[in-house]
Amino acid sequence: MNMHSSNAATAEEAIAAQEALPPLTNEEATQVAMSNTLLTPRFYTTDFDEMDAIDVSSVRDEWDVLIGQMKADPNKGHFKKNEDWDTVDWDGMEPKLKAEFIDFLISSCTAEFSGCVLYKEMKRRGSNKDITELFQLMARDEARHAGFINDALREAGIAVNLGFLTQAKKYTYFRPKFIYYATYLSEKIGYARYITIFRHLEAHPEHRFHPIFKWFCEWCNDEFSHGEAFALLLKTDPKLTQTWANRMWIKFFLTAVFSTMWVRDHQRPEFHKALGVDPKWYGQEVFRKTSEISKQVFPMTLDIDHPRWEPTLNRMQDANVQIAEGRKQGGVAGWAKRMVGSAKAGFAFVSLLTIPVEKNAVPDSPRLEPAY
Ligand SMILES: [Fe+2]
Ligand SMILES: [Fe+2]
Repeated sequence: MNMHSSNAATAEEAIAAQEALPPLTNEEATQVAMSNTLLTPRFYTTDFDEMDAIDVSSVRDEWDVLIGQMKADPNKGHFKKNEDWDTVDWDGMEPKLKAEFIDFLISSCTAEFSGCVLYKEMKRRGSNKDITELFQLMARDEARHAGFINDALREAGIAVNLGFLTQAKKYTYFRPKFIYYATYLSEKIGYARYITIFRHLEAHPEHRFHPIFKWFCEWCNDEFSHGEAFALLLKTDPKLTQTWANRMWIKFFLTAVFSTMWVRDHQRPEFHKALGVDPKWYGQEVFRKTSEISKQVFPMTLDIDHPRWEPTLNRMQDANVQIAEGRKQGGVAGWAKRMVGSAKAGFAFVSLLTIPVEKNAVPDSPRLEPAY
């Protein structure tokens, strides 16, 4: 019997465990995971030498505690189906919900695996013990998460081919500092998303239409510690969060990450209906938690209660519907529709950037524990 990805000590072992499972016709799922649009999870590459040169001595005490927690590996063996995994009636699931839920699983699996690929590569290329150790631990977690989502997909007769994705998906280059901002935020927003759904379903178990949601609590704790690691990395170089230009970049990334989530979630109305969640409430709730957490290291938060915030996000969402319609329609008229939609989305994004931020005095020590 081969090892299961949930017990793997490294990302490589977890991926191998997934690859060893019986093959499935997974071309469609892999194709979805392969797509690169503004709204689909991407794979990233960066200047690994620059990242390898980070000196963590200024945050040594907090660093060692965090690495110690991650090495203790409280979630080893957790991401595996057990007796809590209720039977899923895939055939009986309402077709629209099924399509949206599968899309959600594929996109989540790709996002988890995107982290794994980036972290694994940093570990492989680096020689700085602190950095390689951290990235190896984070790659391990993300590979387990991706493997577990794939286990859920397999029951529906599909799976994402992780080995193939690593080879064939296009990689986007980001400078290290952009990796810090984007990855810090995606880990923390990942925590906020998972915990918000988990708490909601704790209160309303009748909406738990799939067992995977029962695993979200421990899951989000992994994402929380990954975010903590990036908060410490950001702390090693005060310039990253203090200069005027970098503060503008932080505002840009906050706006991009929040608005992408809003638009992406609004593409799955049936999924949110089944969960008993209003996507607007959910979006704002996740933004609120993420903003609160990000005060640990970012010198500002977005004003998500500003009168222009929600209406502008909705305009962006409408523009996105127009782009999708244009793509479907094809031809010159479809192309024109897409262009108009893209211009509208662009204007909406710029408009979001003009909303004044709320300043924040960053604490000396960034470390937090999951509190939601
Ligand atoms: Fe993850
Ligand atoms: Fe993560």
